[in-house]
Amino acid sequence: MNGVTGRMGTNQHLERSIVEIRNQGGIVLKSGDRLIPDPLLVGRDTKKLESLSARFGGLRYSTDLDAALSDPYNEIYFDSQLTSLRPASVRKAIAAKKSIYCEKPTATSTAEALALYHEAKASKIRNGVVQDKLWLPGLLKLKYLIDTGFFGRILSVRGEFGYWVFDGFAQAAQRPSWNYRKEDGGGIILDMFCHWRYVIESLFGDIKALSVIGATHIPERVGEKGTIYTCTAEDAAYGTFELHNGIICQFNSSWCVRVRRDDLFVMQVDGTNGSAIAGLRECWIQSDAMTPKPLWNPDIDSVINHFEMWAKMPTRDPFENAFKVQWEKFLRHIAQGDPFPWDFLAGAKGVQLAELAMQSWRERRWVDVPRLE
Ligand SMILES: NC(=O)c1ccc[n+]([C@@H]2O[C@H](COP(=O)([O-])OP(=O)(O)OC[C@H]3O[C@@H](n4cnc5c(N)ncnc54)[C@H](O)[C@@H]3O)[C@@H](O)[C@H]2O)c1
Repeated sequence: MNGVTGRMGTNQHLERSIVEIRNQGGIVLKSGDRLIPDPLLVGRDTKKLESLSARFGGLRYSTDLDAALSDPYNEIYFDSQLTSLRPASVRKAIAAKKSIYCEKPTATSTAEALALYHEAKASKIRNGVVQDKLWLPGLLKLKYLIDTGFFGRILSVRGEFGYWVFDGFAQAAQRPSWNYRKEDGGGIILDMFCHWRYVIESLFGDIKALSVIGATHIPERVGEKGTIYTCTAEDAAYGTFELHNGIICQFNSSWCVRVRRDDLFVMQVDGTNGSAIAGLRECWIQSDAMTPKPLWNPDIDSVINHFEMWAKMPTRDPFENAFKVQWEKFLRHIAQGDPFPWDFLAGAKGVQLAELAMQSWRERRWVDVPRLE
């Protein structure tokens, strides 16, 4: 597990996925065997690795990626390094014939992300990319509504993602500084549009075209070492997507917005028979029968409490951490060939949407989404 000392690597992939899977006694395969992953923590800083290892009961660790890859005991290479470092390390893992699972984006350009897919395919190695949002409880509830026809004909989708990320001057920032530097693979478009691609396409339909404007609202921030740096990457993006089936999606992504909504990410879906708002864990619905009939009159207080007209869907099944769910699927894919459609091609599609978004912004126009293969 390379990059495991980072935010995502430690919290989501190690602690809440691999360590959890080990603690539950592994995963039971069709053969009846139990698969228990034995992670090797890889990074640059021995001290950090040592303390991470100790925190989870003495896991293996190393600063030597090449040695780790040359050991046949290590069957899977996982990468959650900062994005710009990923392709070179993934290529080493391809050369070593390892199965590969990695964070999104798989690369910082479509050409490179697609090249990684073709190289992995030519080497016949199994590969996968993180698409965690698919297993968020709120989105699974939304998917239930779609699959059972709750909406009638879906008309439009509004996604609102973001929260205030402190600039580091008076209050320490809660995201890494490379996120705000283009030269280090940062920017909210590359970060979030990878997600929007699979979220939109798995729930609503294939994207035909998009129109996006980005902005660097905060020009300077204070980094991890306390020094001021110039923000060279956008910290907000406002996008509109036209789907082949006619559905219109609008997604705002921003690290410069304060939250007065149900969650850090919410998606409102409006259909002819009903509407829903999905957050990370919950989903609220309003059917045709529960839809109030507002009349525009700003001279009086609203006679309708709009929030009261929505019902919260029950949580009928226990939900697991979304990263862990996908890890288990990947491990089953490796161990017994279960289907795993979230491969490097899916990863490249995510990068492609981000790249097209930047093109739309740069050229100030709608951009079509060409088929990638
Ligand atoms: N799936 C998601 O929802 C999600 C969310 C956030 C980030 N990510 C992705 O996960 C990856 C890691 O993001 P993060 O937020 O954990 O970042 P982070 O800065 O916390 O971690 C980066 C990791 O890369 C390592 N690294 C190696 N060489 C480095 C160098 N020269 N400079 C800096 N770090 C170096 C660090 O040691 C660290 O382990 C990124 O590709 C990011 O796009 C995914």
